[in-house]
Amino acid sequence: IKRVTTHTIQELKNRGEKITALTAYDYSMAQVVDAAGVEMILVGDSASNVMAGHETTLPITLDQMIYHASSVVRAVKRALVIVDLPFGSYQGNSEEALRSAIRIMKESGAHAVKLEGGQEIKESIVRILSAGVPVMGHLGLTPQSIYKFGTYAVRAKEDAEAAKLMEDALMLQEVGCFGVVLEKIPAALTRQVSQALSIPTIGIGGGPDADGQILVLHDLLGITKEFKPRFLRRYADLNTVMTEAIAHYVDDVKAKDFPNEKEAY
Ligand code: KIV
Ligand code: NA
Repeated sequence: IKRVTTHTIQELKNRGEKITALTAYDYSMAQVVDAAGVEMILVGDSASNVMAGHETTLPITLDQMIYHASSVVRAVKRALVIVDLPFGSYQGNSEEALRSAIRIMKESGAHAVKLEGGQEIKESIVRILSAGVPVMGHLGLTPQSIYKFGTYAVRAKEDAEAAKLMEDALMLQEVGCFGVVLEKIPAALTRQVSQALSIPTIGIGGGPDADGQILVLHDLLGITKEFKPRFLRRYADLNTVMTEAIAHYVDDVKAKDFPNEKEAY
């Protein structure tokens, strides 16, 4: 199997083919996602919500991200594996940012990192890139800043915030990021940024004109139930499938139907 690299991702944009990405946090699920043909797997700090049950992405630690990332890397044969730098591991200190990125690359074997923010974290991004580590940017609704925003509503609806987002996107390209995630911004702004940039944009809640799309795996599969933003399309109802399977098991054991003779030694 030919591995996907940051160059492959750029070629997809160059020839106008949409890029696919999903999150994964563990070995078993990453095997499925990789085999299904997704080009990029993000070990997102959404693991804080989906895996650990926290309300926000802020509590997850660098050690925990490395644990998730190394599990994913062991499963993946083809996809490009990108890992989120967690809250507190890169902001305001480019030396710490580089140290965090190097730990992720060394200890997990991942291929790239993702950081949230623009101008504010430019120094950190430049420093990580200077070590030869590919960086993906993330603009728009950046969940590590949820207490600044106050809500998970659509970002950059106002001209000033939209203009800053465009500036930040151009800066990320200029310093050498290989792509930018655009989260929950107006579709028209996604289109403008995607046309202005030569590097690929990956949208989530950004409409159809991003160069690629990403979703949280457990949302796409319908494992998570309460999270229902407009941008989410559920491709399965695994929550129901799993609940019914487990209830069936409980019934069979209670009824002394499982295990039967053939299932015993
Ligand atoms: O952590 C995450 O899952 C993400 C994507 C939704 C872009 O950052
Ligand atoms: Na994230």
